[in-house]
Amino acid sequence: MNYRNEILRLKKEKNALILAHFYQIPEIQDIADYVGDSLGLAQKASEANSDMIVFAGVHFMAETAKMLNPSIPVVLPDLNAGCSLADSCPYEDFKRFKEQHPDHIVISYINTTAAIKTLTDVVCTSGNAVQIVESFPTDQKIIFAPDKNLGGYINRLTGRNMILWNGTCEVHNILNTEAIIELKQKHPDAKVIAHPECSAAVLTLAAYIGSTTGMINFTQKDISKKFIVATESGILHQMKKLSPEKEFYIVPSDSTCSCNDCPYMKLNTMEKLYLALKNGKPAISLDAETIELARKPIIRMLDISKKLGII
Ligand code: 13P
Ligand code: SF4
Repeated sequence: MNYRNEILRLKKEKNALILAHFYQIPEIQDIADYVGDSLGLAQKASEANSDMIVFAGVHFMAETAKMLNPSIPVVLPDLNAGCSLADSCPYEDFKRFKEQHPDHIVISYINTTAAIKTLTDVVCTSGNAVQIVESFPTDQKIIFAPDKNLGGYINRLTGRNMILWNGTCEVHNILNTEAIIELKQKHPDAKVIAHPECSAAVLTLAAYIGSTTGMINFTQKDISKKFIVATESGILHQMKKLSPEKEFYIVPSDSTCSCNDCPYMKLNTMEKLYLALKNGKPAISLDAETIELARKPIIRMLDISKKLGII
């Protein structure tokens, strides 16, 4: 079957909106109505007026879309597309942790379950985390969850002393400085760019640190012709499309491969996307109380981002 043609036909027939993250396979990115980072995708989902959203990303992203637009069915091609970072912050453990720090507010990275968002004051993404933290007075006590790498980066950059939940992304946290130094020796004129979910050691080598959208924009605007890219390999598709004359080297996750894939993002395929669109399932389902509580910190994030001109 020609999935591309069938998806395009069904998309029109069902008045569906296809949203895709930059870590999706190139074929999915190319068929999507919008490809973006978590912040852009949340904003697009909140503005959608289609009859269905097909979310080519991972579970927390589709859940966020559902909370922002509860009346539209949101389908995820593979319900097993989770996130190690979201999984590193179980509800009961985090609730106890929060109770131990009653004078702290909670800022959560969007890579969390809806349940964690119900315990959160304001959500952030890698595209606005620094500005969200800085929108609070310097003496405000803050718990930052779940990514200790992103939280540590913000603490160093802003001089804050947020308490960090001990979570990491299994894809970014294993990227190491040796692999970057090796690439740098082969390509001395290449600039290192990194996602803030990478370890502090990796981030010290980076000329630019930012969200997937930020990284893509940087490679397009910067004068450098070569980039060493410390994040998931799906991002190379847009970088190469936007700057075909430039060279990109992904930081490998181990010495036996030259790739770096998120196993959850890569569960989505064109066949599963086609079936999700055709059958209207698997759909994200959340109870009304969770939606009411968990959407508040997401709306607050979007409001602050609009006020600061980030979106
Ligand atoms: P971005 O919001 O920067 O696209 O990051 C999402 C993510 O899951 C990174 O691992
Ligand atoms: Fe989650 Fe990491 Fe995959 Fe992003 S790359 S979706 S943080 S597991």
